[in-house]
Amino acid sequence: MRLLVTVAASLALATAGLAQDKKTEIKKVPAQYSNPASGPEMFKQYCAACHGVDGKGTGPAAAALKKTPADLTLLSAKNNGKFPALKVINTIQGADIAASHGSRDMPIWGDIFRSFGGGQMITEMRVKNLSSHIESIQQK
Ligand code: HEC
Repeated sequence: MRLLVTVAASLALATAGLAQDKKTEIKKVPAQYSNPASGPEMFKQYCAACHGVDGKGTGPAAAALKKTPADLTLLSAKNNGKFPALKVINTIQGADIAASHGSRDMPIWGDIFRSFGGGQMITEMRVKNLSSHIESIQQK
């Protein structure tokens, strides 16, 4: 089954989970269409549940994951000061999946974005704008 997460649903659920002192559970709901031109908007909608609005990996759904979501503001710092754009793009799309073993917690966004339609160009625009947004939040 494909993993689909929206921030709104995950946020609501994480809050409910806390209120009832229950373990955080991730509710998987179909990702909603968003504006492919806005990296920050897409990040809030698709990524913040796990990575946090600030990208630091402390979103409300993070506690329920096997693996802690990466702190996306340190990618340049961890790569000799250079933003690893190609790696980020491949990770978002899920292009690196075949090479890794087992499954990952993070959805394969390439498939999800393609399901929105608009063709390959729009899908690439989404991934590129997300990558640019992440590049813009790098810590110096
Ligand atoms: C369901 C939780 C979840 C969602 C939603 C999610 N991620 Fe992730 N992400 C993870 C986890 C967990 C990792 C850690 C690595 C792994 O699981 O392989 C990760 C890793 C990454 C990495 C690799 C960082 C590194 O150190 O190289 C990037 C880039 C990334 N995510 C970007 C995104 C973007 C952009 C979105 C939204 C389109 C997103 N993620 C949505 C959970 C999530």
